Amino acid sequence: MTLNHEQVRIVLGARSGVPIIVAIHSTERGKALGGCRLWHYPDWRDGLADALRLAEGMTAKNAAAGLQHGGGKTVVALPAGFVLDAQARREVMLDVGDLIESFDGSYATGPDVGTTPEDMAVIGERTGEVFCRPEAAGGSGDCSPYTAIGVLAAMRAVCGELDGSTELRGRRVTVVGLGHVGTPLVRALHADGAVLTVTDIDPARRALAAALGATWVDIDRAPTVPADILVPAALGGLLTRELVPHLRCRGIVGPANNQLAEPEVARLLSARGIIWATDHLASAGGVVYAVARELHGVDHQQALERVLSIEDTVRSQLRSVHTRGQVA
Ligand code: PHE
Repeated sequence: MTLNHEQVRIVLGARSGVPIIVAIHSTERGKALGGCRLWHYPDWRDGLADALRLAEGMTAKNAAAGLQHGGGKTVVALPAGFVLDAQARREVMLDVGDLIESFDGSYATGPDVGTTPEDMAVIGERTGEVFCRPEAAGGSGDCSPYTAIGVLAAMRAVCGELDGSTELRGRRVTVVGLGHVGTPLVRALHADGAVLTVTDIDPARRALAAALGATWVDIDRAPTVPADILVPAALGGLLTRELVPHLRCRGIVGPANNQLAEPEVARLLSARGIIWATDHLASAGGVVYAVARELHGVDHQQALERVLSIEDTVRSQLRSVHTRGQVA
């Protein structure tokens, strides 16, 4: 594997003693942006691999979203079974803040899988280079609902390409993952009249499925349930070469980062006539909203409009590159 990242720093947090990794893939377009993931890994090197992949993905995401920013990512690689109590969590976030501050403004973070706006406020005690603190702490708050809004925008574009209608009402949509983004997403899809099938690794999320009248399926089966749209909303790598022949959907649009297990899968999807909105664009709503509010100083409505414009961007992209049967 060749290293094509500008910088990677790995520390054992001075307070917390846990491995914290910051990978900066590129600052060519400007300051690198990318969230802070907190996750359990069998080995810290798995966290490093994740950080490298996710940082590279952020370069592509920020560019696809038209932001003048490069990409980076922070990963807190907790050992398997490691339990974080409130005090240890605070120590981790202070350590993350110190590490981010050491980049002298070339990288800023935000929330990601496993972290919240409250965590961003703690990081903010050590560095100004942090997005999405709660509004009371001077930030633009939780950006997950805007990521969900961006996914819906991308979904309308995909539906329009499928059959000319951007309507979500009556569409059969399977959502894999009911986390910070998946939850507001299924609520919005329900309100729009979509017919939902959902799943999550956490069986407690069945309660949400029941409340929305959604069908719950086992996580292994979910991707192959007949559907108009499949939504990867959990961790990356859902779309493998082996899965493609078994898919029973017409389009794929979701907020998960790095959805393709390998780049070749894009061609296989296209060969099957399945329209895939690239994860970089479909997942960009959160960072687009946070940057608009916190760096460009625009109001809520204008920031929301930038998120909604993901629909047009996806439509143009589908027409130029991912039109059925033809991939660049
Ligand atoms: N984690 C999100 C992403 O991957 C959101 C984010 C918001 C990242 C703000 C950086 C800054 O896009």
